[in-house]
Amino acid sequence: MATKPPRQMTGAELRSMLKSSVNFKSLGGVKCEGLKLTFEDMQWWRDAKIGMFFHWGLYSILGRGEWVYHNEKLPKAEYEGLAHEFEPQDFSMTELTSLATDFGAKYMVMVTRHHDGFALWDSPGSYEQFTTMATASKRDFVREYSEACQSAGLKVGFYYSPMDWRFPGYFDPKGLPENAALMKKQCYDQVEELCTSYGPVDILWYDGGWLNHSGSDTTSAWFWEPEKLNSMVRKHQPKAVINPRSGWEGDFYCDEGSHPISGGIIPVPWEKNMCINSGASWGWMEDDPVTGFDDLVHMLVNVICRDGNWLVNVAPDRNGKLSVEVVNRVKEIGAWIKANGESIYNTRGGVYEPVDGVFGSTRSTTNKNHMYLHITDLKAFADIVLPTIPEQIISANLLDGTSCAFTQSKITLPDGLPSSPDTIVKLIMNRDIIREESEEIYFTRRE
Ligand code: GLC
Repeated sequence: MATKPPRQMTGAELRSMLKSSVNFKSLGGVKCEGLKLTFEDMQWWRDAKIGMFFHWGLYSILGRGEWVYHNEKLPKAEYEGLAHEFEPQDFSMTELTSLATDFGAKYMVMVTRHHDGFALWDSPGSYEQFTTMATASKRDFVREYSEACQSAGLKVGFYYSPMDWRFPGYFDPKGLPENAALMKKQCYDQVEELCTSYGPVDILWYDGGWLNHSGSDTTSAWFWEPEKLNSMVRKHQPKAVINPRSGWEGDFYCDEGSHPISGGIIPVPWEKNMCINSGASWGWMEDDPVTGFDDLVHMLVNVICRDGNWLVNVAPDRNGKLSVEVVNRVKEIGAWIKANGESIYNTRGGVYEPVDGVFGSTRSTTNKNHMYLHITDLKAFADIVLPTIPEQIISANLLDGTSCAFTQSKITLPDGLPSSPDTIVKLIMNRDIIREESEEIYFTRRE
């Protein structure tokens, strides 16, 4: 992983990160009859596997993290003044969508409004008209984004934060109920705008369903009424894939941050989201180290072999530009994904269970009668005995077609293979591979 992050998260920001992690704490959102998409409706998202996320807003001007307004207790007027400087001249959304395509992403998620309240669209429901349209740029970036995604063939995802630090009622919802109600109204109005003004919303990605930075998304459900909010979403966008961060359990399960993924296959829809940079900020920060190529490939492999999707965040600067290092790394990973795409897209994790600490081991993805072994340590793999499964291996090849000697329990790789972060062997089986599926979102490990 990248070394020397220039900034460390503390306080509420750090707790916010930890609370959403599969490895740290369950979300356990409220259940609501009829809201969840069906198994069939989720298949496109599960097949898509790769997404690109971006955080871009007023915080990109300051470069001290997207929590800068709250963390540094900046005066409201001072922070709002930044909107008069947010005026990218030479920026086209197609730069980002075409980079997402180069990355191999099938969907994008744009931060339409973060916790600071600044909406990147023409939002009639925005409290005090704190929007890009009403300030310097006079642009509707959500429209530009949706159109660019649609013409690039990318599915459209909107990140939206229900909470907004500009409201004192956020910090004291019981003491200042009227102010808190205004914030809630803004949330309902803005979510409705997003769901009715820009064509299909393929993904709705909430973040920040808690109150006063305490408890969890679920403990604030009394306030947000996520069943009501998401029923409204379903009315306009019946097939939107919704994440679990509004207090409702959602259609998939989220693991946030750059920490490694471990444990067994999680046979439900889930997504790892992380930064391509160090993870010390989701918004632009100067000299934020870029994660190494091998580490990113290993993360991708660890995610897909456990049946997850991978959503990777980039952070444009105030002008919407990405650093050369980020662009290069994105393209490098994208070329790798393209070359090895058949072992990634449309696959499901397994059926061999990954074993923690046995690195060169039996991590795999499957698609019908194909199984792809993802070998990250060639030496360790030499000792691996494949678990017994009901299907029989009828051929074993590298993706370039080179054949490998095999028995039902052992694959012998050709000599002299170049070192690679992931060597992939394709096994063809005598019939489609039987794997366990589950529709239920459940929580594993350390609760
Ligand atoms: C964390 C951060 C938030 C960021 C989000 C992305 O919740 O606190 O700022 O937008 O992760 O998933």
